[in-house]
Amino acid sequence: MRKKIVAGNWKMNTLPAEGVELAKNIVGQRTTVSGEVNFLVCPPFTHLAMVAEALKGSDIALGAQNCAAEAKGAYTGEVAASMIAALGCKYVILGHSERRQYYGETSETLNKKMEQVYANNLTPIYCVGENLDEREAGKHFDVVKTQIEEVVYNLTAEQFRNLVIAYEPVWAIGTGKTATAEQAQEIHAYIRKVLAVKFGAAADECAILYGGSCKPSNAAEIFAKADVDGGLIGGAALKADDFLAIGKGFEK
Ligand code: 13P
Repeated sequence: MRKKIVAGNWKMNTLPAEGVELAKNIVGQRTTVSGEVNFLVCPPFTHLAMVAEALKGSDIALGAQNCAAEAKGAYTGEVAASMIAALGCKYVILGHSERRQYYGETSETLNKKMEQVYANNLTPIYCVGENLDEREAGKHFDVVKTQIEEVVYNLTAEQFRNLVIAYEPVWAIGTGKTATAEQAQEIHAYIRKVLAVKFGAAADECAILYGGSCKPSNAAEIFAKADVDGGLIGGAALKADDFLAIGKGFEK
């Protein structure tokens, strides 16, 4: 049985006090959703310590949105995986399309970040996905295959067992335009096939999340698909009731 996961990527939103309020509201309403669903939130770095405190005693896990490629040292403005781990984080999002697009994140950097994440016993949520031009040119399969081969294929079998993948088509992020459940299933199944080429049967255990304008009204249909194991949620993760209602998508 694969884990069912709903992860909130807050991106660069909320002031610290608002983030704490959001976390407290999520904790307060947690019991409205089955305990089988694993929830986690990824606030900005500045909020991690305070949100960790707000989540204490709950089963909502904490994650960061990025980490440095190096362990420590003279890297002004960077945040090390060890620092994130020390604050109680369990997860780190890596390779989000916004980081690839706006901050020039490459497979080379992501390989180094992966190393740091595993060295600190964190679980990466590795993002893949094509942009609109690539989708329209029918290149989406090749794009995600390359993103997986260049980074995930470098993991050991043991590391791979502790990996979450998020498929996020760039054209669906923040646009209100969701991939159809069929489009999501088609590419999730393909991603699992690409993972199986390298990791064999372990690919069946890897949680693959969908991300891109996922909300309470479309989650159930998408999560019903065989190879979709949950969602990486942006906008809708900023409201406690919407975020939790997405988790209810597994119950339908
Ligand atoms: P939206 O849910 O706002 O489309 O964002 C998805 C996303 O990028 C999550 O990482």
